[in-house]
Amino acid sequence: MKTPEDSVVIMTEIVYPNDTNPMGILQGGKLMHWMDTASAICAQTHSENISVTASIDRVAFKKPIYLGDIVTIKAKITRAFETSMEIYIEVKARTVKKAENILTNTAYFTFVALSDNKKPTKVPALKPVSDIEIEEYKNALKRKTFSHI
Ligand SMILES: CC(C)(COP(=O)(O)OP(=O)(O)OC[C@H]1O[C@@H](n2cnc3c(N)ncnc32)[C@H](O)[C@@H]1OP(=O)(O)O)[C@@H](O)C(=O)NCCC(=O)NCCS
Repeated sequence: MKTPEDSVVIMTEIVYPNDTNPMGILQGGKLMHWMDTASAICAQTHSENISVTASIDRVAFKKPIYLGDIVTIKAKITRAFETSMEIYIEVKARTVKKAENILTNTAYFTFVALSDNKKPTKVPALKPVSDIEIEEYKNALKRKTFSHI
């Protein structure tokens, strides 16, 4: 059975002038694009199928990320359901001159795996291993139930 570590994605980007607003702050849409890409790779690695974004929970922009900062986006699957998967995203940023990574964003993305005829298709089961993974696995069911009310 597949574990969350089997499909974890760590993506690193640097903020260039084209990614920012006139104050040199990373645009929210650009960051969302990176988060979507990292979580899509994670979902597709787990499901071994093309997977589409079905929903994104509330995304908070807790701290600004600036021009030249180095951004690390980590995507990890929390649970596989029938055809959908929940992916947890954590974004951290640091300046070139300071090694300290600051947590700037977190979010949960839901992806649905598609068959070759573009219909939702079954995904492999997930076996959480660590205490945090087991906790996330349990909470993912609550989030799925809540999001469909
Ligand atoms: C996501 C999509 C494939 C679901 O298709 P559907 O025919 O409505 O699917 P179903 O009702 O049979 O549900 C299939 C799964 O999707 C989940 N799902 C459907 N809509 C969802 C939503 N808005 N949020 C979270 N999960 C959702 C269901 O809970 C179900 O999960 P499960 O099988 O693990 O229990 C379809 O709505 C779609 O193609 N949306 C557009 C996706 C897209 O273009 N994304 C951006 C580009 S990647």
